[in-house]
Amino acid sequence: MSARFKAPKGTFDVLPAQAVPRARVERAAAELLGRAGYGRIETPAFEDTELFERGVGEATDIVRKEMFTFEDLGGRSVTLRPEGTAPIARAYVEHGMHKLPQPVKLWYAGPFFRYEAPQAGRFREFSQIGAEAIGSDSPLVDAELIILLDALLRELGVPELELRLSSLGSGEARGAYREELQAFLRAHESELAREVRDRIDANPLRAFDSKDERTGAVMAQAPTILERLEGDDAEHFEAVRRLLDEAGIEYALDGTLVRGLDYYTRTVFSFGCPRLGAQSEVGGGGRYDALVEQLGGPAAPAAGWAVGVERIVLAAGSEEEQSTSDVFVAAADDRREAALALVGELRRAGLSADLDLAGRSLKGQMKQADRVGARHTVILDEDGGAVLRDMSSGEQTEVGHGLRPEDVVTASGEVVRRDPEMINPEIATGEFELRVANAEQISDADTPPFEIESFSGEVGEEMRLRHRYLDLRRDRMRESIELRARVNAAMREFLDSEGFLEIETPMLSRSTPEGARDFLVPSRRDPGSFYALPQSPQLFKQILMVAGLERYYQIARCFRDEEQRADRQPDFTQLDLEMSFVTVDDVLDLNERLLAHVFERTGRATLELPLPRLPYDEAIARYGTDRPDVRFGLELVELTDALRDTEFKVFRGTIDAGGIVKGLNAGRRELPRSELDALIGRAQELGAGGLVWAFREGAGWRSPVAKFLSAGELAELNSRLGAEEGDLLLIVADQPKTANAVLAQLRIELAQRFDLVPTDREQLVWIVDWPLFEWDPEASRWDPLHHPFTQPAGELDPDSPGNARALAYDVVWNGQELGGGSIRISDPDLQLGVLEAIGIRPDEANERFGFLLEALRYGAPPHGGIAYGLDRFVQRLRGADSIREVIAFPKTASGADPLTGAPARVDEAQLRELGLALRPAQRRAPS
Ligand code: HAM
Repeated sequence: MSARFKAPKGTFDVLPAQAVPRARVERAAAELLGRAGYGRIETPAFEDTELFERGVGEATDIVRKEMFTFEDLGGRSVTLRPEGTAPIARAYVEHGMHKLPQPVKLWYAGPFFRYEAPQAGRFREFSQIGAEAIGSDSPLVDAELIILLDALLRELGVPELELRLSSLGSGEARGAYREELQAFLRAHESELAREVRDRIDANPLRAFDSKDERTGAVMAQAPTILERLEGDDAEHFEAVRRLLDEAGIEYALDGTLVRGLDYYTRTVFSFGCPRLGAQSEVGGGGRYDALVEQLGGPAAPAAGWAVGVERIVLAAGSEEEQSTSDVFVAAADDRREAALALVGELRRAGLSADLDLAGRSLKGQMKQADRVGARHTVILDEDGGAVLRDMSSGEQTEVGHGLRPEDVVTASGEVVRRDPEMINPEIATGEFELRVANAEQISDADTPPFEIESFSGEVGEEMRLRHRYLDLRRDRMRESIELRARVNAAMREFLDSEGFLEIETPMLSRSTPEGARDFLVPSRRDPGSFYALPQSPQLFKQILMVAGLERYYQIARCFRDEEQRADRQPDFTQLDLEMSFVTVDDVLDLNERLLAHVFERTGRATLELPLPRLPYDEAIARYGTDRPDVRFGLELVELTDALRDTEFKVFRGTIDAGGIVKGLNAGRRELPRSELDALIGRAQELGAGGLVWAFREGAGWRSPVAKFLSAGELAELNSRLGAEEGDLLLIVADQPKTANAVLAQLRIELAQRFDLVPTDREQLVWIVDWPLFEWDPEASRWDPLHHPFTQPAGELDPDSPGNARALAYDVVWNGQELGGGSIRISDPDLQLGVLEAIGIRPDEANERFGFLLEALRYGAPPHGGIAYGLDRFVQRLRGADSIREVIAFPKTASGADPLTGAPARVDEAQLRELGLALRPAQRRAPS
């Protein structure tokens, strides 16, 4: 192969063998620094060029000639970071970290870039690990940093460590020293290297770093600041030294140590390892008390260090890591699938396991096992047998006699404690194992179509449902089914203790009006007649009340032939209950205690009773929906009457057409124009004509529509929305239903986006005082909001059904409806009146559910109840994504059951018996 491409000069690839010692360095640093309270920070690999010019210093080598600087497509000058301190100081300022307890301790690791001449230990891209403590000038900070770095390098086995220490002073003293040094250098100008001479003005300290021999001789005579330290600087340095002495850290004082970055003040230090030759510094650092301020931040004295990962690895040397695995699974050709499954199981059990991926013969695979240093090999032979081979002793034992995952076996023997290295804390029985004396295979399993406990990726739902018996073997599914059973048991336990009777109502009944389409069952004995499966036991439970069975409940199957949606099932389960001689308060009280009991029995949060009650109108006003999530604010605010006379056409037109203007205050946010446009798009997607956004700015707004609104209107809107400087306001003008629905949804999406939803809290709330009817403009009639058997509150005025209120209630859990119910109509005449109000004439009413009306005529007690969607309830408790996760045998979203193949064709004879014939288009062979 041609060697056309190579890693760029001064860079290198890290191959797996080298990755191991490098990772060890990072791990050791993470642990050591973590224990010392340093938090990990990651900053970008490139920054504004000016950050380094200002931070590191324009006269330094790094800035003058080592930076990888380029213009981005927007014409900004950016630079691949040559070092980490200036970026961390930038982040400290940018994120206002001076408000945190000081000092803020941060560590980082990653690639850095300097255009230096490559040589051993010097690269153009290298890895640093650094630590910075910002916000304290205590000498303890300097000492702790040095002690930590010393400990890190020792732990990593860097040999012959040498620590040099100095102080560069600060403030005026430092200025004075600089001048003295400049004078000295000028006096020796002729003996100095060109490069040093050129920089007497800009960077005289760098003369100490010159590699030129003659310059070196001059500099040996040069004054050092260390000899001239005075006042606080001297005291600080003395304190650092005392602390290091006490900690037993050895160091050499070296006044020529200046380090090549301009930000240093006071303490500087350098750890070297002479073995490394020319680039012998492994790491170093110092104090930089003025940097943060220089970058526009508050006064924040700081110190830190950085080490070069490559140099540590070079210095410490690395033993060739022999890669090993616990088990190699070798397989005959027809056992390769089993081998992959076995490797998966072994890995899940915490062992390292590998297999042949190159189609080798069994013999080749054994060689490969040897090559990768496997301690054991499992050989799956073509007879279905399995042999375990200890690779060091060569000892072989036959295992499992061809046992495969999912075979059913019985085994007996002695239960023993596992060897310490075999203990697996991940599994409940991980400390013990069975020493098998006798084993018998009872049932032989085919290779399952998917791994039962799959660790990689998800199995498709269709596949899971088709083999639900395998899917239900998974721990996750078993736990869901167990939870569901516990919920049922807790409900029964509570209702039984409250004197409720569990009564079953029929599955085969007649079609009644409950909103959805019925599932019909043809009658064989009376061809042309049909039973309907119940959409709910509503009418039966009312009849039970008439029957004097005062407290009824049932965990009931309901059937609705609705358009399928992701989280709907054609057959689903309700907890249905009904009580006689009760008021709304009685029903709510009993149900709150029921919910609290279920929560307690399933180990959920204790519910605080009574639950809050929110009138329907208030829910719509404040949240735009009758299912509000009340765990967070962002409440909606009515603005219509403040804008009745506005000149702004969009608002005015909507209001004049009977619409409303409502808004919410999303708090102080900074969103770019593109995201504001996206919000408008989202509002339109949800059905609104548009969305107005505005940021409060001074007395007015920054908003595309600000100019259309008067100062008075802006002030009024700001006051209603409680807008403070910088707050983002979102406003929708539309017909009430649309405006509320759009804002309700935006409110939830914004809360999620801004992390305002306290997901660790459960909040249940009753929605009460519902309207009895709502107007259906398409059908041009009044529809019941709950169902037509709901008792109106007070008299029903046939002339204004829209004003009627219902004795109805819903319980809403974190923004999802959990259950709903009402006090029912027990007066047959009132029932007829309500039916008439929604357009069902008495003769039609009698035809469809005369049986209920008749029952009500024989002495009906006042009664009411509730029904809960049990599948949803358990789904929420479980935190599952879909209700199918908590149903043993659910249907797919299209209503099919892949396990049984339902719905399916039936044969002609069956149809004939029922007196049915399919229309030609629907005729197909039975499947
Ligand atoms: P520095 O001395 O420039 O300090 O770099 C720290 C370490 O990075 C050096 O000791 C060396 O191990 C490694 N290093 C530097 N350049 C290269 C290179 N071209 N190839 C390989 N390794 C290299 C700083 O960067 C300061 N920010 C340290 C600091 C933190 N001071 C205060 N806080």
